[in-house]
Amino acid sequence: MKDVRTSEYVIEFARMATNMYRLGWDERNGGNISYLLYEDDLKDYIDTTKVIREIPLGFDAKELIGKYFLVTGTGKYFKNVERDPAYNLGILRIKNDGLTAELLWGFEDGGRFTSEFPAHLMSHIERLKVEPNHRVVLHTHPLATMSMSFIHPLSDREFTRTIWKMNNECIVVFPDGIGVLPWMVCGTNEIGMATAEKMKDYRIVLWPNHGIYGVGTTLDEAFGLVETVEKAAQVYMMIGERKVINPITDENLKDLAAFFKLNYRKDFLD
Ligand code: 13P
Ligand code: ZN
Repeated sequence: MKDVRTSEYVIEFARMATNMYRLGWDERNGGNISYLLYEDDLKDYIDTTKVIREIPLGFDAKELIGKYFLVTGTGKYFKNVERDPAYNLGILRIKNDGLTAELLWGFEDGGRFTSEFPAHLMSHIERLKVEPNHRVVLHTHPLATMSMSFIHPLSDREFTRTIWKMNNECIVVFPDGIGVLPWMVCGTNEIGMATAEKMKDYRIVLWPNHGIYGVGTTLDEAFGLVETVEKAAQVYMMIGERKVINPITDENLKDLAAFFKLNYRKDFLD
């Protein structure tokens, strides 16, 4: 068996955590990532018959039985992931009872998966229903997006419209828009269920006063969604109270949608 720390996916995952930390998105232990791995990814690296220990999930994830995840640990700092992946990350399999995670590698200090694992797994379940190649759930605390959530109305439509109008690229990158939750207690099954409900329609979900979720078939795709929202939120915050005299109009967005043949949320435009 080869050392899984040398695998392409652990290296890419760890690099992304470093990048997110350097962008200022993941202070202290802020943020978490989970990445669905296939048997084929593991076969040269992990003896999947050897379970190190079992960790209760706290909810029923029967739709994911037998699936493998590379995931950040709770309380672990993104800035440290690349230096010591085996301490800060774990590779888990969902046991055949649907209620337990089987640790196959990592969490070397006796740690456990992120406190947001319910939201991640419930989101994986919903996204796999609409995108069979879905693999990544990413949660982070980007500054402008968080700031904007304090001062902007919190409906899917209003938030999406404003973000779409901060950069021509936005409607092209996420024509499906942004799902917005009300304020909720984080780390609970309840916020997990509410997030997953939004994930039926959206690949981006805002947690006001806290952060954002992005999903994708690759790490780059999930990251790119969040990065694009954050850039638009930066524009919004930079404009501030000043009057916009050169707006992106609903007509402009419709022209973009027509040109790029976008399947966008038509009910979000006037
Ligand atoms: P964890 O350290 O449990 O991953 O929590 C970080 C976080 O961002 C909570 O929302
Ligand atoms: Zn968080």
